[in-house]
Amino acid sequence: MEIPTGALVVLAGPSGSGKSTWADRHLRSDLVISSDELRAVVGLGPHDQRAGTDAFDVLDLAVERRLKRGLTTVIDSLALDEKQRRRWRELAARFDRPTCAIAFDTPDAECRRRNKARDRPVPSKAVTSQLARWPDVLGALPDEFDEVHVVTADGDHDREPVAFVPRALHRHRTRRSTQREDPMPLRFGLSISSFTWPGETVDLAPTLGRIATEAEEAGFSSLWVMDHVMQIPQVGREWEPMLDSTTTLGFLAAATDSIRIGALVNGITYRNVAHLGKMVATLDVLSGGRAMCGLGAAWFDREHRAYGWTMPSLAERYELLEDALELFPLLWGPGSPSFDGRRVRVPEAICYPRP
Ligand code: CTP
Ligand code: MG
Repeated sequence: MEIPTGALVVLAGPSGSGKSTWADRHLRSDLVISSDELRAVVGLGPHDQRAGTDAFDVLDLAVERRLKRGLTTVIDSLALDEKQRRRWRELAARFDRPTCAIAFDTPDAECRRRNKARDRPVPSKAVTSQLARWPDVLGALPDEFDEVHVVTADGDHDREPVAFVPRALHRHRTRRSTQREDPMPLRFGLSISSFTWPGETVDLAPTLGRIATEAEEAGFSSLWVMDHVMQIPQVGREWEPMLDSTTTLGFLAAATDSIRIGALVNGITYRNVAHLGKMVATLDVLSGGRAMCGLGAAWFDREHRAYGWTMPSLAERYELLEDALELFPLLWGPGSPSFDGRRVRVPEAICYPRP
């Protein structure tokens, strides 16, 4: 059984289902906070029912402080109470810790048998009531916890050792086998962000065309250009060559056969938004369905000032982006529906040929 480090782990099951026995066998004792042991700390002993409230106060505090420190924390208690489980999950959420329930699904008769064999059996009335509540609790756990492991009397989980793994590596085994059975291929795209190439006199158009065809031959699955009118400071100086994205993509579509093409990404502020959708649709039709539509909120205010575009506030740019995400499916779909967005109004979203 693999459990992410730093997790909140809740052992759940009726009396005699084997929680404490399993914890003794599989976990370092300092990871486990047991309500029974705390009854002995604040009361007369592990069976002092009157010390229950105080014991849970101490338990909650200990759980909170451990989770805050990022320490893996295992609660050994019945965990049949929905409110209590919610409180613990809320503590985990507060410190962004993963949650895990380990459910001890032991047959009723076996729980009763083990209980009777104890030195101080839990009263059989109490066990009956716990057993009656258990099926509902077991059913609720998957909705409540990030993961649930079910331990059955004769199942693998009972014997299997517990491994604590860093959160980032958690479930890597499942991921690895899923990848083996149904591989997700890794694809590579070539982003052409600079047209400043080495060499004395570089002829821009044929060089760009050659880069595109060679990228395609080399196996790149996509080809991208930036949507800027001047070189951005992260890449070069502003007087270096920069080509308009849409016309360049048209050129690249004609120069290639199969590679996908797009702008990484279209700034939402540079054009009438419906017109941008129309451009992408045209590129898609003329390239034989190879266009990709990257969209972003735009950021380069210097460029906006240079060209006399207004640079809306970040909130407004996000609204434009949201509008585009809603408008484009309408625009690219049949008919000419009207669109009334946050910032964008398009009385007739008509676009033929459709992409
Ligand atoms: N036991 C057993 N075989 C197991 C698990 C438990 O014989 N596979 C016995 C234990 O030795 C113990 C009794 O059953 O005497 C109850 O097990 P325990 O782990 O203490 O049950 P818990 O779920 O912790 O019960 P409680 O909620 O009462 O603490
Ligand atoms: Mg116990």
